[in-house]
Amino acid sequence: MDHLIEKALALLESGETIVLPTETVYGLAASAQNEEAIKKIYKIKNRPSFNPLISHYAEISEIEKDVYLDSKAKKLLEHFSPGPLTLVLNKKKNSRICDLATANLNTAAVRIPDNEITLEILKQFKGPVAAPSANYSTELSPTKKEHVEKSLGDKVSLIIDGMQAEHGIESTILDLSTNKAVILRFGTITSQDLEEVLGQKIYLKDDDGNIKAPGMLLRHYAPKCKLRLSTESPHENEALLAFGEKNIPQGFKEIKNLSSREDLAEVAKNLFSYIHELEEKGYESIAVMKIPNQGIGIAINDRLKRASNDLNT
Ligand code: TXA
Ligand code: MG
Repeated sequence: MDHLIEKALALLESGETIVLPTETVYGLAASAQNEEAIKKIYKIKNRPSFNPLISHYAEISEIEKDVYLDSKAKKLLEHFSPGPLTLVLNKKKNSRICDLATANLNTAAVRIPDNEITLEILKQFKGPVAAPSANYSTELSPTKKEHVEKSLGDKVSLIIDGMQAEHGIESTILDLSTNKAVILRFGTITSQDLEEVLGQKIYLKDDDGNIKAPGMLLRHYAPKCKLRLSTESPHENEALLAFGEKNIPQGFKEIKNLSSREDLAEVAKNLFSYIHELEEKGYESIAVMKIPNQGIGIAINDRLKRASNDLNT
């Protein structure tokens, strides 16, 4: 492990990209202070440069060097970090995060991921490490090392194995850069969780009128095969992602259960990984049973909607 950490640090320091595991999805990481390294991230992912990156840290005191942390932001970070919460905050003038990493915005997204080896690397590296999900832009995020190998495999010099990502979907993004606290992306930390800690109303991006997470404008999280949010009349060569044990429709080539005990955290953990697996097996489409739209279900349905061919944006 020490050897791996040293190798990771040397690569980050020399402006290379590496793949790091996190509790949400695997990230394609590079030093956020190094514009040339950040250029590599955009290029490898084929990501439009107007879509800013999240900077990762091991400590709140390091975050505070780059963005303004008010009492609300501190409270949330202290409560949820390390963990799947990203905050969008105003950048300091002398912020170490380069302009390219934040797509020239005055704000920066920051988080402390919950993964032992990644935290150790971030702790020793000290500076901000930008890491978008380690997939081609618009495709499905990787939740296992093998998913990364299959796609970006030959484009990165090191992929650190962190086993299957515990949460399985990307972090919740909360914008605290204005007076209103606005959720820009749903994740396993829900708006109720945030409201409880903050004691303040949390707005959803639709309430706010305009979408502020540029990446959310795109069709996203899309598998290569077709994803159907209906289970009526199974298509030819179609697999089913089931939920619960009741009323599972029949007639599909294969059925995988996202959670037979109807546990939404388990659904989130399995979702991308099962889609990767079924896609690999060559099914033409995947039908998904209805997932309750509450709690973590809101984030799951958000990803399903974006991944399905229903979405034209
Ligand atoms: O769970 C995660 O957050 C993973 C792991 C690797 O940490 N990372 C991740 O990064 O999902 P990415 O780049 O795939 O998604 C980052 C999202 C994008 O939708 C981007 O537009 C938004 O964060 N974002 C980044 N900086 C922002 C900013 N300053 N203002 C608004 N949105 C921002
Ligand atoms: Mg992504």
